[in-house]
Amino acid sequence: MKLLHLIATTRGEQSRTLSISKEFLHTLKEKHPHIEVDELDLSTIELPPVLDSTVKAKYLLMMGGELDDQGQKSWKEVSDLAEHFISYDLFLITAPMWNFSIPYTLKHYIDVIMQAGILFNFTANGPEGFAKYEQMVCITSRGSDYSPGSPMHQLDHQEPYLRAIFGFAGIEDIHFVHAQPLDMAPDLAQAALEKAKEEARQMVDKLTITAEV
Ligand SMILES: Cc1cc2nc3c(=O)[nH]c(=O)nc-3n(C[C@H](O)[C@H](O)[C@H](O)COP(=O)(O)O)c2cc1C
Repeated sequence: MKLLHLIATTRGEQSRTLSISKEFLHTLKEKHPHIEVDELDLSTIELPPVLDSTVKAKYLLMMGGELDDQGQKSWKEVSDLAEHFISYDLFLITAPMWNFSIPYTLKHYIDVIMQAGILFNFTANGPEGFAKYEQMVCITSRGSDYSPGSPMHQLDHQEPYLRAIFGFAGIEDIHFVHAQPLDMAPDLAQAALEKAKEEARQMVDKLTITAEV
């Protein structure tokens, strides 16, 4: 099995979200050493801009048109990334909450890879995602607390969005670990971080990992 780790924090070694993901990965590798782990650090890789030529190519293909050289080049850049994504069995997303949702680097990646014909298709019965057998773990951290029942809960557009967009691609098996609140008081942050790290370690046992290499 192959896991793709999408890193959407810009803070490198200082990132608390990443420190939780490292616990998850450490336990995963300890229990399932055959899993191959690849990383995409979304703040350092250069993603193709979703601008004029990429968008034109997308619409042209939708209408059954033919791409010119520039269109083919633009389409290849996005389709290669979409094919790369769908080639994995398991995903780990490391994303702090930014403005109630996800950092723009992750949104940019999603805007690139969500391509009809590669991640999903429209059928007579509605949209159909192709990543039906894939699993995903999303590890997030937040400055405030958005737990169910808290006054901030309704402002959490991060978990619902990630569930919706990757659910659209077919991934229904999505698990979350949230560390919160991390920016209210140091003792609260410490306790929340330890709790999230423990949840992340235990998360490994919730996944279906096959022995296949
Ligand atoms: C640009 C930006 C926007 C943020 N927006 C929110 C927010 O909407 N809600 C929140 O609770 N925390 C917000 N935070 C705080 C981070 O989610 C929090 O500090 C998180 O733990 C940072 O994770 P990291 O250590 O992995 O970078 C924001 C931080 C930044 C830099």
